[in-house]
Amino acid sequence: MAVWLAQWLGPLLLVSLWGLLAPASLLRRLGEHIQQFQESSAQGLGLSLGPGAAALPKVGWLEQLLDPFNVSDRRSFLQRYWVNDQHWVGQDGPIFLHLGGEGILGPGSVMRGHPAALAPAWGALVISLEHRFYGLSIPAGGLEMAQLRFLSSRLALADVVSARLALSRLFNISSSSPWICFGGSYAGSLAAWARLKFPHLIFASVASSAPVRAVLDFSEYNDVVSRSLMSTAIGGSLECRAAVSVAFAEVERRLRSGGAAQAALRTELSACGPLGRAENQAELLGALQALVGGVVQYDGQTGAPLSVRQLCGLLLGGGGNRSHSTPYCGLRRAVQIVLHSLGQKCLSFSRAETVAQLRSTEPQLSGVGDRQWLYQTCTEFGFWDTDPWHVLSVTQALGSSESTLLIRTGSHCLDMAPERPSDSPSLRLGRQNIFQQLQTWLKLAKESQIKGEV
Ligand SMILES: *[C@@H]1O[C@H](CO)[C@@H](O)[C@H](O)[C@H]1NC(C)=O
Ligand SMILES: *[C@@H]1O[C@H](CO)[C@@H](O)[C@H](O)[C@H]1NC(C)=O
Ligand SMILES: *[C@@H]1O[C@H](CO)[C@@H](O)[C@H](O)[C@H]1NC(C)=O
Repeated sequence: MAVWLAQWLGPLLLVSLWGLLAPASLLRRLGEHIQQFQESSAQGLGLSLGPGAAALPKVGWLEQLLDPFNVSDRRSFLQRYWVNDQHWVGQDGPIFLHLGGEGILGPGSVMRGHPAALAPAWGALVISLEHRFYGLSIPAGGLEMAQLRFLSSRLALADVVSARLALSRLFNISSSSPWICFGGSYAGSLAAWARLKFPHLIFASVASSAPVRAVLDFSEYNDVVSRSLMSTAIGGSLECRAAVSVAFAEVERRLRSGGAAQAALRTELSACGPLGRAENQAELLGALQALVGGVVQYDGQTGAPLSVRQLCGLLLGGGGNRSHSTPYCGLRRAVQIVLHSLGQKCLSFSRAETVAQLRSTEPQLSGVGDRQWLYQTCTEFGFWDTDPWHVLSVTQALGSSESTLLIRTGSHCLDMAPERPSDSPSLRLGRQNIFQQLQTWLKLAKESQIKGEV
């Protein structure tokens, strides 16, 4: 990691981890599951904070312009935000603005995770902002195509700016309080862009696993999955990587054989329907790839059904079943475990069903907005993993004021998650580095406050 600091551009910290969200829906279900798991423990935490904590966190709504770039369009929508002011020192204290990404944003966003954990050290006010068109921040008219043209990262950044100004007035925040943006994954990219585009409003940003480059054919995703499966630091090995290939080759062989082999495959993988159509076979392989990719992407995270170490154990040991000890059997067992933890009876792979779900313009109150995110990947980012995310991020310092940090054994946005006793030394060191970087920046902010520069 390289950390430099210069005053001409201002600070931006890009943190990259192994492992983001691909359009493949199983991967998104896994992400949703993990987020909900972490959210539910966050609500529990809210109750154990002592006197006065019952009122935490506070929720609020900002009236935002639907199209701030068109002066004759006065339509607006309500954008949700959460506030945790329990550590805030008020006067001149920093503001940690946790940006939401392509999903619902719950109270845990200001109560748990890294921004909240860092708040006491500096007496920061923690605010989180749900992204337009996700969660409950959906404009009137829902998810119709005519409306979705108001969904973009540019408009989301405009929301960050107007929220920053409105919240300053609302909470009577001093003009010398530094605002630091935090975000993970796509929201991490937003945090980085907010800092780069609006340095007069955002003093610094911490961007975790942020894919800041758009790419159509994202084959590098699987390259990283592959390297991770071989990484001994997280329980992988050359043998494990080879076992995944053998298991997938066996699935493909059975798919090609048709007939009885294909019918058996359907039962063995708990697939929801027949596998005859080529498009469904492709979806099935995509779901299995997302399963393995998801294990890598969310390795070691609270609520993840399997770690890389466990997956490798299953593939190499056939799930400990002597009579069925082939990598294919291990993969079957992995599918069962993941389906069980997602509460699903069978593995869904129907292209027609997927398309029907994506066509629905009814906002989903669940964690992730599949239709909206597909729209954003189509219009802005690509990210179709023909095959993790840090390859699209910045893992080498760009210049004197933009430091980067690669946490080798970390998974996607793991540094943003709540601390746990089981955290790896490299993750601890990574979080410490972020802490020290913030310390340097906030000291700089203090100095400029004294000089009256901010
Ligand atoms: C701006 O808003 C007006 C009023 O809603 C609308 O008629 C016009 O088409 C909009 N312009 C663009 C470029 O969207
Ligand atoms: C807002 O904060 C300033 C100090 O920054 C203080 O003088 C003023 O009284 C505050 N106003 C309200 C309404 O709290
Ligand atoms: C091994 O796998 C087979 C087929 O899934 C199953 O019937 C059997 O009970 C398993 N044996 C053990 C010891 O788990």
